[in-house]
Amino acid sequence: MEELQEVKNKIRSFIEECNDEKSLELLDKLATGKMLRSKLILKIAGVNEESIKLCAVVEMIHAASLLHDDVIDEADTRRGKPSINALYDNKTSIMFGDVLYSKAFTELSQMNKEVAYNVSNAVTLLSIGEMLDVNLTNEFNSSYDKYLDMIYKKTASLIEASAKSAAILAGLDKEKYALYGKNLGLAFQMIDDILDITQDSETLGKPAMLDFVEGKVTIPYLLLHERLEDKTKLESLYKKELSQDESSWIKEQMQSTNALTDSITKAKELGVEAIEAVKNENNESLIQIMSAMIEREF
Ligand code: FPP
Ligand code: MG
Repeated sequence: MEELQEVKNKIRSFIEECNDEKSLELLDKLATGKMLRSKLILKIAGVNEESIKLCAVVEMIHAASLLHDDVIDEADTRRGKPSINALYDNKTSIMFGDVLYSKAFTELSQMNKEVAYNVSNAVTLLSIGEMLDVNLTNEFNSSYDKYLDMIYKKTASLIEASAKSAAILAGLDKEKYALYGKNLGLAFQMIDDILDITQDSETLGKPAMLDFVEGKVTIPYLLLHERLEDKTKLESLYKKELSQDESSWIKEQMQSTNALTDSITKAKELGVEAIEAVKNENNESLIQIMSAMIEREF
């Protein structure tokens, strides 16, 4: 996609404007991801100077949040490459995150006021979402509402703000696109949480069933917990290194209680609702993005 290269060039020129060699060196070390948020913005607002700028701002904020998240999570890889905290140290990761984050806000302050409001508000939600996520791993969380609130803030809010802001730039019905973006984000996170259980470590690029070991009680675990007569065994496995027998037991219970299939259904329902919101907007690619996400092998 040619226009994603335009976004990368814009990010580079923003960092060049900072006149700092170290920042440029670090930018080259960042692994680029799927650029989901940019794809969404460009599919909604088309390719023009403002939309490319919005993409660059959102990608810089997203990258900054991951630089900080990798320090918080003590992660040594990001997108299959060594993370900045692993290549350099925690300080460098935090400081470079701050450069990306503040330069993004400088540019955002010069953009459409409503766009600036929506994006900056989403970053507050994102930061609160990260705190909720960390706090929810302190002890077994059995509240589905807390899980939903956390994934909305941590993952869906910036995707929602991206879609909404793109609609504002293009003069489209912003609420329809906001709902689409929110549900895309929620479904994306739920599917990520489901794949952690259904896929092997080779496909995932990290150990399978790692979420529960790391203290994350994701949607399949929440539904399972709710449905188990005797909850003590599941609770006793929380945050433990799982043996082969223990992970098989969890998977079997998820099958027999339908916790797994009902989690997939929930993600699909969010996807269908997203498609409904924009189905009369004459934008086939939005429907394709959502369908590709939910119509896959689990
Ligand atoms: C990844 O979660 C983390 C996020 C999507 C948000 C992190 C947000 C912050 C650190 C606060 C915002 C800070 C700034 C500077 C804008 P994950 O750990 O579940 O996913 P992963 O497996 O990709 O690490
Ligand atoms: Mg992380």
